[in-house]
Parts: sequence; C-alpha cells; structure tokens
Amino acid sequence: MRGSLALAVWCCCVLIASLLPAQDGAGLYDRTCASCHNGGNDRAPSRDALRSMPADRVLAAMETGPMISMAVRLTTADRRAIAEFVSGKPLGQPLVTTPSAKAMCPAGASSPLTLDGAAWTGWGVDTNNTRFQNTAGIGVDQVSRLKVKWAFAFPGDIQAYSQPTIAGGRVFVGSAGGKVYSLNAQTGCVHWFVEAESGVRSAVTLARVGSASAAFFGDAKANVYGVDATTGKQLWKTKVDAFPVAGITSSPAFYNGRIYIGVRSGEEASGADPQYECCRFRGSVVALDALTGKQVWKTYLVDEPKRTTKNKAGAQLWAPSGVSVWSTPAIDGRRNAVYVTTGNNYTDPATRLSDAFVALDLNSGKILWSRQMTPRDAYTAACRLPDKTNCAESNGPDFDFGSSPILVALPNGKRALIAGQKSGVVYAVDPDNQGELLWQTRVGKGGTMGGVQWGSAADQNNVYVAVSDIGRIMLTYSTATDADPKQGGGMFALRLDNGERVWYTPPEPCGNRARCSPAQSAAVTAIPGVAFSGSVDGHLRAYSSADGKIVWDFDTAQAYETVNGVPGHGGAIDGPGAAIGGGMLFVNSGYPTAGGMPGNVMLAFSVDGK
Ligand code: HEC
Repeated sequence: MRGSLALAVWCCCVLIASLLPAQDGAGLYDRTCASCHNGGNDRAPSRDALRSMPADRVLAAMETGPMISMAVRLTTADRRAIAEFVSGKPLGQPLVTTPSAKAMCPAGASSPLTLDGAAWTGWGVDTNNTRFQNTAGIGVDQVSRLKVKWAFAFPGDIQAYSQPTIAGGRVFVGSAGGKVYSLNAQTGCVHWFVEAESGVRSAVTLARVGSASAAFFGDAKANVYGVDATTGKQLWKTKVDAFPVAGITSSPAFYNGRIYIGVRSGEEASGADPQYECCRFRGSVVALDALTGKQVWKTYLVDEPKRTTKNKAGAQLWAPSGVSVWSTPAIDGRRNAVYVTTGNNYTDPATRLSDAFVALDLNSGKILWSRQMTPRDAYTAACRLPDKTNCAESNGPDFDFGSSPILVALPNGKRALIAGQKSGVVYAVDPDNQGELLWQTRVGKGGTMGGVQWGSAADQNNVYVAVSDIGRIMLTYSTATDADPKQGGGMFALRLDNGERVWYTPPEPCGNRARCSPAQSAAVTAIPGVAFSGSVDGHLRAYSSADGKIVWDFDTAQAYETVNGVPGHGGAIDGPGAAIGGGMLFVNSGYPTAGGMPGNVMLAFSVDGK
C-alpha cells in the first residue's frame, strides 16, 4: 500500500518535472555555485571567467569534470540550465578541440625523440627541483631581447596551468581540457596529442625507459600515465587513488626506473557543503614502476579516518583527514630518500605530518623523518563561507606547502632542503640531520593564498623567492570579491647558507586593469644571472640575480594569433613558471582563481623572436 502510494507520488513528480518550463538557471546557480564562484572560494574561477566558457564545457565540468561533487544533487535538466546560464550560450555547440590538420607537424617530421642536449624534463628541471637552467641558450645580455616567437591556444580552456617541459627540440604541456601535447619547440606544430580522463596540471616528465623515451603525467582524477614520448602511444595508465575527488597536481619525479608522485584532493572544497560528511581523503606519496605503471609502494601521510562527532547539520564527521601533497618530490640519491612538502588537515584533530617536510625511503616508502612547520592546521572551504558548519575548530590557518622542496649543496659543503610556505616563511632544513631547522626567513604576511605559493628557484648562491600574498576586496553592492590591486607581490633573493636577504624588489603597481593583483604566486625560474617571475597581473619579469633590477618585462595578458588557429588570450600567470632550454622560453598564461585573469595560451619566446 505504502509502496504503491510512494510510486504514485514519484510518477507524479517525474511527470510534473518533465512538464515544468525551462529550469531557472540563475536561481540554481545562486543556490549551488555562487557561494564559491562569486568570490567565496579562492581556488574557484570567477563568475566572469566562467562566462567565457562554452556551455558544453561548463556542463562537462559538472558531469565528468572537477565539479561532479558540487552538482551531484542536481537533475540533468538543472545542470543544463546552469550551464546555459553561466556561459550565456546555448548548449549543443560543442567546441572542436582536436587540432586541425594545419596545426599538425608535416608527416615524417617526427624522428625518435632523444633526451640529449638542452632540456627541462620535469617540474624542477632536475630531480633536486632547483628550477635553475644552466644550459638556457639565452645569455644574460640577451634576456632583454626576448620576444614572442609563437603562441599556442588550448581550445575551450580558461586556464593554462601545466608546467611546460622541453626535450629533443620539442615542448610538452598538459591542459585543463585534459589534452596533453607534444609540440615542435621552434614552430609550435603538433607532433602528437593525447586525451587524459581529466585536466592535466602536472608537468610532463620525460625520461629514458628501456630503449625508448617516455613521457609521464597525472590528471585531476588521480590517473598517472606513461606514454611513448616520440609518438604519444599509451604505455600504461594507473589510478593511484580511488577516492572520488583525489587528483594529481604534483609532477612525476623520475629516478632509477621509477616514478614518484604526490596525491592531493578537492575535498577541502567539498567540505563547504554542510551536508557533506567531512572528511576522509588521505594524502599520500606513490612510487610506480616507470616501465609498467605498477605500484611499488604507497605511503599515506595520515591514518585511516574514523568517525568523530556529528556536525550541526547532523552529518557524520571523520578524522584524521587531508595532508594533500601538491608539491613535486625531490630525490636524494645519496640518502636514498624522496622528499615532499605537505598540505593541511581538513578536520580536527590535526596530525603530525601536515604542513611539513617529509622524507621517505626510496625503496620502501617508509617515513624516515618529518619536520612540521605549522601544527594544528585543519581547514576546509567552509571556513571562508557564511555557513561554517564544516569548518574545523582549529579554523586553519590553511598554511599548505604548495612549493616543492629544493635540494641544494651549500657553499660550506653541507646540504639543505628549502621551501617557502603559504605562511610567508621560507625554511631550510638539513636533509642529513633528520630535517633539523637550518634557518627560516619571513618574506610575506601569509594567508590562504598568501606567502609563497608555487615555489622558488635556486642557483649556487641564492634562492629566488616570489611572494604571493594575494589580497581580496569586496565589490560595492555585491557579495563578490575581486583581486586587490594594492596587495601582494615582491621578489627576494636569499642566501642559501643562512637565509639572509641579498636583495628585495618591490612589486610593480597594477595600473588600471580589472582583476589585477601584483601578487607573484607562480613558481620562479632561474638561469645564470637572471630569475624569472610571473605575476597575477599577467606580466613575466626577469630580475638580475646580482641586484634584483628588472631587466625585462612582458605583459602576457593580450590576444594572440596562434599557430594552431584557436583564439588565444593570455591572463594571470600563476601555478607553474617558465621552462627554458635550447634558446627558448615557454610559459603558460591564464589563471582565473583568486581574482586572476582567465587565459588559455602557452607562449614561446626566443631572442628577437627568431
Ligand atoms: C565549494 C566550492 C565550489 C562550488 C560550490 C562550485 N565550484 Fe566550481 N570550482 C571550484 C573550484 C575550487 C574550481 C577549480 C577546480 C580546478 O581547477 O581543479 C572550480 C572550477 C569550476 C569550473 C572550471 C572547470 C574547468 O574545466 O576549468 C567550472 C566550469 C565550474 N567550477 C562550474 C561550477 C558550477 C556550474 C557549480 C554549481 C553547480 C560549481 N562550479 C560549484 C569550486 C566550487
């Protein structure tokens, strides 16, 4: 009886739903998306940026992309209505994202890729993560003559966030749309492209495996891929974490036939929802066999979560959780160790390995030592929203490490592991003495998008540190925020051996551009005599290593005619930095989070554009 009544009610509802007029996209957006996309979540692209996307791409974000968990309680019709509202365009105009025949390299142009010569084969150039290119092919005195030689656009994307890599006369890059490209470094023609399951933010790491050159990368669904670097043919694909919102931002570190990579999650954002059972993700480091993709070991950095209390909405809470690894591991052959830096917890009680340097044994994954820099840091996106139900009592301060650890030899013969934190402090610890603190230097105020975000570069004497400290301002007559044009940025050179300041160059003012911040959040890149830093204001600047003077400045936030014929526009530079090798510099532009400008290009520079 009750069953048939329920069925009748259900049928009736389905009928009514199908007869209802078009869904109210604006209302649905306000209820389910606006809390984050109108300024409440620093990592969420802005409302304006979403407007520049095709409707089908917004729909895909909710159905197969990073917004699945935000849209699970919506019907298909709701999702479609939101997609049309957000983009201001009708569905059913899917963008052609396959490179045109004209964009492809001429047949026969693809000789087997070698890894000889000038190269930048992973996140940090080398497995020490120095981001210092000794064989740049660009002299100090030539830097001021760098000009765009070609531009390549990622179709349908509003962000360009994968660190480019270089080898064998080619450049390799992933994209938010999930395509990974191998392009000719001189011309930008496409040698091959492959489709990952989701956005590829990691660098494409290149290495010789067996008799061939291979390329490795990870996607936003926690898949790691190995492909033939000459042809793009897939060798293997391994899902390294089954958690629904687990993903890869870390770049693969290749060493002695193995890949080492960190796993992070988007659960910090899921926690914004008071109904969400926060939180169960466990950050980890994974080692894979580079030839087969088989897992050699996986070490979780947090224990198995257990039920704790219920939140005030009645949802079960879990702890411990979090400790994402956003950074790229550094490898220490001498100590047989792999080093990572870690992110915050999501729920209380917080644990020992969050916001820390962690050393693991290369062979077994056993934790050798750890050094925590910020204890008791549990944070979710709820901590910044009006509904703070799922904000832990410790309430942040959200001082992740996004910066990868840099392993350097000091002038005194000792060694140091260096990384800047979102707290605004740069730390050097001793890899040969259980991570004992060597020095610490404050460079910024710190904050959820603050301090040092994506990392620094080190030459033989100094570490070059860019300061983010992105600020937000409330917009008049609105609940939305925008980037504060008056806060953030600045560049430091610190001595490797004691952290003392060698020079400081203040940020360049923003001018009148909308959505501008002087913050320097992107990873720094160095060559002999010069350090490059990209800014949220869209500029890529070159600083003299000797005195910090700006010797070159290029505004990437403009429209480009692209070699693949796709409309291209630059925006904020954030996340990865420039890759340099063989006389060329490659940088991505477009990063619409934290008030930054969207964009979808990779730019290739050379001396005089030749
Ligand atoms: C709890 C916060 C939050 C909510 C709620 C939320 N988003 Fe997002 N959204 C984010 C974050 C963070 C990102 C960036 C994710 C990334 O780049 O991996 C993002 C990215 C996106 C993107 C860009 C994806 C791409 O392919 O580049 C789209 C489109 C989007 N969201 C749409 C939506 C829509 C539509 C809704 C409502 C159904 C929604 N979001 C709800 C936080 C949120």
